[in-house]
Amino acid sequence: MTDFKELVKLRRSHRQFDGNEIDADDLKTIIRAGLMSPTSKGQRGWHFIVVDDKEDINKLADAKDMGSQFLKGAPLAIVVLGDAMRNDCWVEDGSIAAISMQYQAEELGLGTCWIQMRGRGLGDGMDADSIIRGILGIPDNYSVLCVLAVGRKADERKPQNEDKLKWENVHINKF
Ligand SMILES: Cc1cc2nc3c(=O)[nH]c(=O)nc-3n(C[C@H](O)[C@H](O)[C@H](O)COP(=O)(O)O)c2cc1C
Repeated sequence: MTDFKELVKLRRSHRQFDGNEIDADDLKTIIRAGLMSPTSKGQRGWHFIVVDDKEDINKLADAKDMGSQFLKGAPLAIVVLGDAMRNDCWVEDGSIAAISMQYQAEELGLGTCWIQMRGRGLGDGMDADSIIRGILGIPDNYSVLCVLAVGRKADERKPQNEDKLKWENVHINKF
């Protein structure tokens, strides 16, 4: 098991995956991390859709213009949703759940990448949110935050470079 100090250094975004499926126990452990993540007012109002259907994964990859085509090579997508009407912190809650799942996946040796969907879409004006709600049968009151691509890493990423950390962005007492 990697300690957290090492895990935060090792975690990088992975966009290439080998063809293998994700182990069912690993998937459960990843989702568990999302379900354990903190939420505003303890609402736990997020929903996660695990998609392993190849056709639907391909459709999700086509829901926006840029930065999502690599999803077509992933065995699994986790779609993170929130209820924007009932929860003014749905973006924060969903983001914390998503990164929690990403760190858990990293700890299991799996690769992930966040694919932004909120506020994104196609050049013709169709927004990714409506497209994805159509693909996955999501009720109107839920909004799509992001899709996590999850798979077995097939690209090599260097760990974070300690020498390049932006310590200058950290302020003590005043800006
Ligand atoms: C809010 C957010 C949105 C992102 N959207 C995308 C995306 O749409 N497509 C993509 O390939 N990567 C996306 N990423 C991944 C970033 O590009 C990546 O985290 C960043 O380049 C730093 O690299 P690292 O994760 O390897 O440290 C996103 C990350 C965050 C946090």
